[in-house]
Amino acid sequence: MNNFSFSTVPNIISETGAAKNLGTHIRSRFPQAKRVMVVTDPGFLRTGRVDLAELSLKQSQLKVLVYSDVVADPPEAVVLGAVEFARMNEVDMIIGLGGGSSMDVAKLIAVLAPGTQAISQIYGIGNVTGTRLPLVQIPTTAGTGSEVTNIAIVTTGETTKMGVVAPQLYADLAILDAELTLGLPPLVTAATGIDAMVHAIEAYTSKHKKNPLSDSLARQALGMLSANLTKACENGRDLAARQAMLLGACLAGQAFSNAPVAAVHALAYPIGGIFHVPHGLSNALVLPHVLRFNMESAAPMYAELAGIVAPHVAGTDEARAEALVVAMQHIATMTGIETTLQQVGIGETDLDRLADDAMLQTRLLGNNPRELTRADAYGIYRSAL
Ligand SMILES: NC(=O)c1ccc[n+]([C@@H]2O[C@H](COP(=O)([O-])OP(=O)(O)OC[C@H]3O[C@@H](n4cnc5c(N)ncnc54)[C@H](O)[C@@H]3O)[C@@H](O)[C@H]2O)c1
Ligand SMILES: [Fe+2]
Repeated sequence: MNNFSFSTVPNIISETGAAKNLGTHIRSRFPQAKRVMVVTDPGFLRTGRVDLAELSLKQSQLKVLVYSDVVADPPEAVVLGAVEFARMNEVDMIIGLGGGSSMDVAKLIAVLAPGTQAISQIYGIGNVTGTRLPLVQIPTTAGTGSEVTNIAIVTTGETTKMGVVAPQLYADLAILDAELTLGLPPLVTAATGIDAMVHAIEAYTSKHKKNPLSDSLARQALGMLSANLTKACENGRDLAARQAMLLGACLAGQAFSNAPVAAVHALAYPIGGIFHVPHGLSNALVLPHVLRFNMESAAPMYAELAGIVAPHVAGTDEARAEALVVAMQHIATMTGIETTLQQVGIGETDLDRLADDAMLQTRLLGNNPRELTRADAYGIYRSAL
């Protein structure tokens, strides 16, 4: 076994209804907090659930400042605006309450608001110096796992994204409350849920940092996600399925934060960047094709995962690995999300640009179980058309 290290957030509460009692949770764990900034976006604000959390915080004598200007795939200007808001209001604690976009912005506020570093200085791995404000993350999508990862992703140009990776981005506390995800539309539930499944699959086959802890988390996550994703899509009010999805996404987040994702994400990023396809859907579109490409290096590992997702299938490693791919395609088809690049407006003439951009994702491609050339990337996009 290789040497490894493993890090995650120190506290996780998995409790349906926890957000209604947020004030009590925050008071008991952060007695110093006085002025709390809640970071969210207009879409989640419209569900009315921010009001309930705000009310609970106020009942616990906390001053609450709601910042709801986050947008999906947050651009740098949005992050800087939020940091300015935090400074002007002298907040002493940050709560991310939303999907991956809101939680990523919350991480960056917590780091940048009290410090002296410019955002340009912290892109990359391990460039954050100093401490941050207390940080609590509350996901409202069951997908990114951002509540337990040490990474924040920012849109820096027209189509480019950059990551901040640093131990300071691990929150102090993550709260998983399925009531917050009840309003998530079926197609968003599907795409974000498949993103979480991809985190588990890619962590399990991550080339350099795969380890027994991330493996256990990935397996457990995949079991919970595959058993509950179609249930949560078919009946969005199934609280048990929703809570299982949140926990599955959280476990997958812990796995890939330590055993990073690879070519599925590398090929998905340009689809999101250039064509503004949501992150989870971008992943779902290339997933089966990347898995088939990886087969010659990863079939035994995929066969192990097939034992979780398609346990009835027997046979060789290759046959069971193929069953994993088919099972993932079946889940995507059942949920009704798009399954081809053409359905999201991508044509043959776009493939060169996608392949060029995918090859820039060297950090992710280095984790892939099979080496991938530009010609391979082009071929994968072609088969996904
Ligand atoms: N930090 C990480 O570890 C990590 C990992 C993967 C992706 N990401 C980033 O996360 C972002 C994607 O996050 P996401 O997929 O969670 O989506 P998101 O946060 O961008 O939200 C997508 C949409 O869903 C809406 N929404 C969220 N929760 C809702 C709810 N409960 N009810 C109704 N509507 C709701 C939002 O208003 C928004 O319109 C991207 O920026 C991606 O790069 C981060
Ligand atoms: Fe992802």
